[in-house]
Amino acid sequence: MSSTVITNIASLVTNDPSLGGSALGLIQDAAVVIDGDRVVWTGESSKAPATDNRVDAGGRAVIPGFVDSHSHLVFAGDRTQEFNARMSGRGYSAGGIRTTVAATRAATDTELEAGLVRYLAEALRQGTTTLETKSGYGLTVEDEARALRIAAAHTDEVTYLGAHIVSPDYADDPAAYVALVTGEMLDACAPHARWVDVFCEKGAFDGDQARAILTAGRAKGLHPRIHANQLSYGPGVQLAVELDAASADHCTHLTDADVDALANSRTVATLLPGAEFSTRAEWPDARRLLDAGVTVALSTDCNPGSSFTSSVPFCIALAVRDMRMTPDEALWSATAGGAQALRRTDIGRLTPGAYADLAILDAPSHVHLAYRPGVPLVSEVWRRGRRVA
Ligand code: NIG
Ligand code: FE
Repeated sequence: MSSTVITNIASLVTNDPSLGGSALGLIQDAAVVIDGDRVVWTGESSKAPATDNRVDAGGRAVIPGFVDSHSHLVFAGDRTQEFNARMSGRGYSAGGIRTTVAATRAATDTELEAGLVRYLAEALRQGTTTLETKSGYGLTVEDEARALRIAAAHTDEVTYLGAHIVSPDYADDPAAYVALVTGEMLDACAPHARWVDVFCEKGAFDGDQARAILTAGRAKGLHPRIHANQLSYGPGVQLAVELDAASADHCTHLTDADVDALANSRTVATLLPGAEFSTRAEWPDARRLLDAGVTVALSTDCNPGSSFTSSVPFCIALAVRDMRMTPDEALWSATAGGAQALRRTDIGRLTPGAYADLAILDAPSHVHLAYRPGVPLVSEVWRRGRRVA
């Protein structure tokens, strides 16, 4: 296997806290040595060991590839009209999900896969090297299973979200839909997924239904994660902690008890500012979570309804400007935080043994991602030790 050194890096984010300074483990005037698909060495440029190949970063910054731990990319159709209506003053409700369910059911496998591939490529160009994605726009046994099959062909991080909303076919009998989601649908979906998720919210699934769905998923070998406390206060966050879910996602409406529960758990709070941006909703209080000691991840929630952005840099800029995260915290949350939300230690950091997944920025430091919002600063993306964008 051939080795490569990327040298002349003005500022390298390793996310190795043992290097001192901030959690980012920054090294100035740095180099990274890659062997095959892994990082084998990081340090000062002048001390880099000899390698087969040499790449000059030209005094730019290098960061770990983004870990986008929350998206919904197997869908068809478009909700421009709904967005337009919101921007003219209408509120967001989960009801719009039905529009995408109808379009997704009507689409062919080829159309769904082409959409997923397009959004994955879009995300990769913006520095995302790991992306989780979910079902949830099929809501029949066949449509949920095919969404997961299509997703699993493109990413290891696949989530069964048959419990996105109660299927319109079961509007009069939600209990029968929960029985389907925990029974026949789960059996068909579990082989294609790693995670089970539920939208725990008024108008979707209540705490008892969510517990039943997540426990059934866990019994089939899927690990829980939850859409929790997005549109209103509710039991989702406490349930996430009770079930040792990897992540409670959204976390916009939190009581002090919710914050305490997260702070004393392994459950990551995944914040999705693209959703608040696109629904003109109030921002989650990242500062309150961080000050309480909660581990925070930052992801896109890319979906055609509430957050149609695949751009982690955009979410970083929002988190810094509007959620009072520092640029260092936001970068950590979008890389190491995302990895923790997926319970992964092989990504989200540039330390010996980790996958060589990284982005070279057209900037001297990662701070520019928030300082220069909207500017396409990701100039090269490497995944598994190879340049891919
Ligand atoms: O995470 N909250 C539920 N699901 C998505 C929205 C999906 C949609 O509106 O299509 C979310 O925001
Ligand atoms: Fe979501």
